[in-house]
Amino acid sequence: MRVFVTGASGFIGSAVVTELLGNDHAVLGLARSDAAAAKLAAAGADVHRGALGDVASLRSGAAAADAVIHLAFVHDFANWADSIRLDIQAVETIGETLAARGGNLPFAIASGLIGIAPGRVATEADLPPAEWPRGRSEMILRELAGKVRTSAVRLPPSVHGPGGGGFSQVLMAMARAHGRTGYLGDGSAKWPAVHVTDAARVFRLAIERAPAGSRLHAVGETGIPLREITGAIASRLGVPVGPVDAADAPKLFGFLAPFLGLDASSSADKTRALLDWSPLGPKLLADIATVLK
Ligand SMILES: NC(=O)c1ccc[n+]([C@@H]2O[C@H](COP(=O)([O-])OP(=O)(O)OC[C@H]3O[C@@H](n4cnc5c(N)ncnc54)[C@H](OP(=O)(O)O)[C@@H]3O)[C@@H](O)[C@H]2O)c1
Repeated sequence: MRVFVTGASGFIGSAVVTELLGNDHAVLGLARSDAAAAKLAAAGADVHRGALGDVASLRSGAAAADAVIHLAFVHDFANWADSIRLDIQAVETIGETLAARGGNLPFAIASGLIGIAPGRVATEADLPPAEWPRGRSEMILRELAGKVRTSAVRLPPSVHGPGGGGFSQVLMAMARAHGRTGYLGDGSAKWPAVHVTDAARVFRLAIERAPAGSRLHAVGETGIPLREITGAIASRLGVPVGPVDAADAPKLFGFLAPFLGLDASSSADKTRALLDWSPLGPKLLADIATVLK
């Protein structure tokens, strides 16, 4: 297939481009800058110039492909509502374009896992809470099912590998800046994780064979206690680690503070069975010890 990939120049997008090109697909990657265009061309992808806010560029990209993987996102936590609005607009635009063409064309988007099912292990059966950040985008996919073969690929807060580590990478940067790290309470809240190459494989399998309306969990590890994640960061950086008072959390963790007490444990049992997918890449703590920067 010729796959239009938004966010193709990003951390996960780059792994998705490699995964697609290595499995007999062609890639048309969205690029908003010369640097992104050069990166995509060097990887062997065709370049589609445009931007998330430029709906005409999203329409023409989706019209020129057999499938779409949507990964572009503005990670501006100070203007989170605007980022979500732009994401919803992009999902609507691409979805409408594919629906108008008919033929149940595949469309996979990135979604998340924090807050899907607080207090228990989240599964693919869980619908997101109404107010949840990517909830509207997932709902649009459900509405398109029947006309478009949609999949929401839910990613853990730490997609990790060379070049990135999601929230764990941010925690590491904050630990470096403050000369210490820590956790809330006893640090037993758990975050799931996945290696970036394993996540990329889920996106490829999603467009190849997931049924319409799929919710897929690209989860390699169900849940790693924050005590262990921050302990690995402390060992890597040689900084102290310990419990942090809730009142000090915003100073030490910035925008991540509200997430540190949230257990986001998630299973991928249905995804593994549906796609015959198993995670193969290194585990998060190993990557924190050697690969994350
Ligand atoms: N990394 C994780 O651990 C993680 C965890 C959960 C969910 N996710 C989600 O997975 C998706 C991909 O994440 P990532 O880690 O690969 O992000 P990333 O490395 O920050 O890449 C973001 C991509 O979006 C593009 N982009 C940003 N603003 C754009 C705009 N206005 N117009 C066009 N393109 C734009 C970037 O292009 P440039 O190269 O030009 O900047 C880049 O290709 C996102 O939806 C993210 O929220 C990631």
